[in-house]
Amino acid sequence: MSNQADFDAEGIVFVDPDEDVRRQTKEVFEGRVQLFESIAEAERRVIQGDADVVFVGPTLATLEGVAEASALSDLDADVIVVLAAPAEVAGEVLRAAIRSGLDDVVEAPLTIAAVTEALKSAERTHRRRVEAAPEPRKPLNEGKVITVMAAKGGSGKTVFASNVATLLARWGTPDRVVIADADLQFGDVALVLQVDPKHTVVNAAKEGERLDSQFLETVLATHSSGMRVLAAPLEPAFADEVPTMTYTKIIGMLREMFDYVVVDTAPSLDERLLAILDKSDVVLFVVDMDLPSVKNAKLALETLRILNYPANKIRLVLNRSNSKARLDVDEIERSLRLPISASVPSDGLLPASINEGIPIVESHPKSKPAKAFEDVTRIVMESRQPAQETQKKRRFGR
Ligand SMILES: Nc1ncnc2c1ncn2[C@@H]1O[C@H](COP(=O)(O)OP(=O)(O)OP(=O)(O)O)[C@@H](O)[C@H]1O
Ligand SMILES: [Mg+2]
Repeated sequence: MSNQADFDAEGIVFVDPDEDVRRQTKEVFEGRVQLFESIAEAERRVIQGDADVVFVGPTLATLEGVAEASALSDLDADVIVVLAAPAEVAGEVLRAAIRSGLDDVVEAPLTIAAVTEALKSAERTHRRRVEAAPEPRKPLNEGKVITVMAAKGGSGKTVFASNVATLLARWGTPDRVVIADADLQFGDVALVLQVDPKHTVVNAAKEGERLDSQFLETVLATHSSGMRVLAAPLEPAFADEVPTMTYTKIIGMLREMFDYVVVDTAPSLDERLLAILDKSDVVLFVVDMDLPSVKNAKLALETLRILNYPANKIRLVLNRSNSKARLDVDEIERSLRLPISASVPSDGLLPASINEGIPIVESHPKSKPAKAFEDVTRIVMESRQPAQETQKKRRFGR
């Protein structure tokens, strides 16, 4: 095709559930664009950073399709999203497309010339929009809050939290890292790190309105690595002495005191967890490789979607990935509608490390799980700091 060099097809994604439409598009572009059946698949490419421009095809030129497409641009402000709508599309849909912040609407079926033109104009609109939007910035002195959650007990949250925190401490400045145990009834962070806390979060909570960072500092225990630990109450009954508001206030204070705040959580999707998630910059969502875990994860993620929780904060991590559960990673990703960012294999060294009270990244740094925790930690460190709650709301695609 003579004019095919007019634009760079790499990074261009076309989504349409209709096979014929996809086939025609493939022919027009001589197979050079990435074709997907659903917005969920495009979402995955966007999250992985493999998509620069997403054309949403004519079958999705409906109000629902536009809503899904706009969630794509919310996912990554750098991605250009264009609706390719048939000429006879309802005005209502066009208005919705413009209102919801899509970068352009072009006529379907797509032609090379139309795409070249659309790319130029969409880039212009996009640049204006992105430049006009206030850059979400955190004050320089604020750290990153990393929350480890799972939708089922025993998935490996504490193992992940303690190993990631230990690596963050080792790779950075140990006393700039704190691990907070938000499993207020049965938290075992202090136990698995072999620290003997003189005080716990209950002491901080008792201060109420008077609590300040100086006092909070005195409540923290210190791990042998130098990192700090905010221990859970010593007895389950004391959990009631730490109201959710107080806990989130404490997280906010820790964020100002440390570079990294790693929060280990209890296995229930309750008010407390939701409040902590709101305060988090990155959420490590641990999915154990068995059917009940995947089922629960799906339900929990659906709940978060309904609550408009930003998908771009979540990193799915698979635990016991080599287990004999016969679950397919692709299937899990499709079912959960998010990519798996890292996987930690099942290994007998892990229960042993828990019993010894030494994170595996310290006791067996060359082991496979330790290497996997290094991947997880890099993901956490590299993840962009998403907008805070007050900034533009970013949502899941629905
Ligand atoms: N990849 C793994 N290989 C082998 N054992 C593992 C692995 N991950 C976790 N375990 C074991 O599973 C058990 C539960 O792990 P962990 O305590 O981290 O889960 P949790 O999600 O924090 O549980 P809870 O919901 O009770 O807080 C531990 O004994 C741990 O050693
Ligand atoms: Mg735990």
